[in-house]
Amino acid sequence: MSIEDRAQALIDKYVRIYMERTGRSREFFERARKVLPGGTTYQIRYFSPYPLYITRARGVKVWDLDGNEYVDYWMGHGTHILGHSPDFVVKAVNEASYDGTHLGYPNTLEVEYAELLTKVIPNVEMVRFSNSGTEANMYAIRLARAYTGRRYIVKMEGGWHGGYDALHVGVNPPFEGPESLGLPVEHIKYTIVIPYNDINALEKALKSFDVAAVIMEPVLGAAGCIGPVQGYLRGVRELVDRYGALLIFDEVITGFRLALGGGQEYFNVKADIVTLGKIVGGGYPGAGAIASRSEIMELLDQLKRPSARSRSFHGGTFTGNRVTLTAGYALINYLAQHRSFYENFNNLWDWVRSELDRACESHDRLCWVTGVGSMVGIHFTRERPINARMAYEGRISEKLYTLLHLYMRTRGILYLTEHTAHLLPSMIHTKEQAQDLINAFNELLSEVVHR
Ligand SMILES: Cc1ncc(COP(=O)(O)O)c(C=O)c1O
Repeated sequence: MSIEDRAQALIDKYVRIYMERTGRSREFFERARKVLPGGTTYQIRYFSPYPLYITRARGVKVWDLDGNEYVDYWMGHGTHILGHSPDFVVKAVNEASYDGTHLGYPNTLEVEYAELLTKVIPNVEMVRFSNSGTEANMYAIRLARAYTGRRYIVKMEGGWHGGYDALHVGVNPPFEGPESLGLPVEHIKYTIVIPYNDINALEKALKSFDVAAVIMEPVLGAAGCIGPVQGYLRGVRELVDRYGALLIFDEVITGFRLALGGGQEYFNVKADIVTLGKIVGGGYPGAGAIASRSEIMELLDQLKRPSARSRSFHGGTFTGNRVTLTAGYALINYLAQHRSFYENFNNLWDWVRSELDRACESHDRLCWVTGVGSMVGIHFTRERPINARMAYEGRISEKLYTLLHLYMRTRGILYLTEHTAHLLPSMIHTKEQAQDLINAFNELLSEVVHR
């Protein structure tokens, strides 16, 4: 039997088990399809044959409508670095909320939180809060264009920076053209897409166009947690300087995850602008920030630049709201006081990645495990991917991804997505839980290989 046939036979087997356990989620999905396009609020949360409806989350666990318990490796899209709903954060937010959820005026917390962020994130002197990672990137691009007076943006194949027009290109194969219906090609004509980990492609782009900024995740996230090859990020920094562009690190995933100071600290490479999301909001909605040195951020300063046209715009109703800032401040302040957590955290997940990869190797090298720190990507590819193209085009079978996701659900383990396995664990996942993940992975691979 081919791998494809074996995977299909196992999918058939585990779909039956899944459906027996999740009848109420199935019913809910029928209802959902009538009122939510695709039955979901965000298409990446769908998985086949129907998704689970999660009713409760606490610590590292989530529970579905049928009462099944799962160890969560998705953690609110990588938001919950200290697990779901840490008591001290929820308490702080609840208390603060009685004095106003959103003041709509300058408030002391935005000052205190900005001060804290400038202390813990390298190379930044000023901060502006936004409502999401997408928004942070949108304004960061504008800021970089304003600062350099240039138009072009370079991004990486597979790099996901949110659905903003100029960045919604080159995310999925074939990595060219608009990623969405309704996105005119004119809106992406100043965006150049190049492969990650390819320094020559970057130099070519910088040479050929008046590039305002290179925007990149230090470690590709949604493309399957693919890290930089030796010397790559330093090479990027040097080239960006040589050609007079800015380097934007999208640290929406890597920020406060790889290290308290994010990818800049972890890799010891300096960015000109850092964008943040997810963890910066402490687990509450409205998570986003742009951080950079004063010389760049001053382009947003209405006192120094009274005329709107002489400034770069950033703003929005819910920016700097009390709920998100209270949560974010409480969480980041806690992490700042427990910096030593990062070493254990990264060590544990370095070990997990090597164990998972060993499982791949001992099962006919059916897969490769990639990532850095606590970011884990699983790829059923012929070669270890070093960029998004390899991660997609080198796939042995799409069905193996479907099977892994489905199987893990039946083992009480959840992550997203069904198409690209990227796990973003928290600091409170235990070694025992990680061992269960490794065991389940080994058992599935044995079933695939020996069937
Ligand atoms: C690296 C990266 N940048 C930007 C975004 C967009 O952030 P948001 O979903 O908060 O708009 C994401 C979201 O997953 C992301 O992973």
